[in-house]
Amino acid sequence: IFVRVGLGQDFEPNYEESRVPDYALPDPLRFEHGGQVGNPEDWKERRAEVFRLFESEVYGKSPEWDGELRAETLFENPDFLDGKASRKGVRLYLKRNAKEIFFDVLLFYPNTGQPVPAFLGLNFYGNHTLASDAQVPVTQAWIRNNETMGSSENKASEAGRGKRIPNWPYEAILSRGYGLVSLYYGEVDPDFDDGFRNGVHALYPEEARNEASWGSIAGWAWGLSRVMDFLETEAWVQPEKVAVLGHSRLGKAALWAGAMDTRFALVISNNSGCGGAALSRRKYGETVGRINRSFPHWFAANFSRYNENESALPIDQHQLLALMAPRPVYVASGVEDRWADPRGEFLSCVAASPVYALFGLQGMPVTTQPPLDQPEMGHIGYHVRSGGHGLLPYDWQQYLDFADMHF
Ligand code: GCU
Repeated sequence: IFVRVGLGQDFEPNYEESRVPDYALPDPLRFEHGGQVGNPEDWKERRAEVFRLFESEVYGKSPEWDGELRAETLFENPDFLDGKASRKGVRLYLKRNAKEIFFDVLLFYPNTGQPVPAFLGLNFYGNHTLASDAQVPVTQAWIRNNETMGSSENKASEAGRGKRIPNWPYEAILSRGYGLVSLYYGEVDPDFDDGFRNGVHALYPEEARNEASWGSIAGWAWGLSRVMDFLETEAWVQPEKVAVLGHSRLGKAALWAGAMDTRFALVISNNSGCGGAALSRRKYGETVGRINRSFPHWFAANFSRYNENESALPIDQHQLLALMAPRPVYVASGVEDRWADPRGEFLSCVAASPVYALFGLQGMPVTTQPPLDQPEMGHIGYHVRSGGHGLLPYDWQQYLDFADMHF
């Protein structure tokens, strides 16, 4: 059962800028012992400190992958979109000792005969929601109930077919010369609090869990790395040009994937908000306490020590963005998506920029939030677009431009 604790009852989000508390952000360029980070060489060391803090205090530590990965082609259509592209379905089996799980990966790529860069992202309702035809099977995994997506009793159905194509505009992506790879997040780790017995966590039954063990966000992120393992064996893709992206909770997962796995050459957070790109110390919209109570399985247990206690956090989310440096990272907000704190997402980009400067790169080109629908792109990109929470064609246009700029 998907338990949403006290939604709308015990919590009144702050949406007043004037009521954002004064706060001081931890300096990404200061070592724990107090010394100053002065060059990229120092940053390697400092990065390890910051990474460890996110691991133990926020997302939890994911295990090393020491199992076997096997890919089975489910279907392959080299004649997709009148022969302009190919579409393929692959079942990735992850086997470790006596345990095996699988997730289905849906791949689209242009028939250029040359390896291409690609976007990789988890989807919310199954791969069949990205396909209008029956070749892509409906996921059999646990799914959230959602009438418009055709899921009930935690089962997906044909009624969801094609419903998310507008959010994954593969025709536009392919015509710009990029591949698109997606998989259903519920096959990686079902999104409910089951004590970490299913999904990728099930591969590590011997693991004694503690306050710093991986939660579901870390599980989803870890799953993205297994897809990357597989992409490294695919001829159509340039594995050194894979952008990882995600929306909302899956934007949090994309950021953590980019932090854990530097093979991701570009990282995109779409409306990731609290526990993603937004600064926790602002307590605007969703807060640390609120997210931990609503979704107790998303983070390491340690994260709840900062409920209503954000100033005690040894890091803030700008340092998560900084973990990508010098790789490009893009953060996108929706102006009506106040729950995700658009301004807090922007300020996070600004506060991550000194780390890029260390590499002689421009992070966020501006220090005041850009006007609506006017993207800013340095090595950190940002836009706040019209409208609310969602991964929209407008967002994709910016991601494609940003990828063109950096790839
Ligand atoms: C909830 C949650 C957010 C999350 C969002 C989503 O609103 O509070 O943190 O980003 O769901 O994933 O859509």
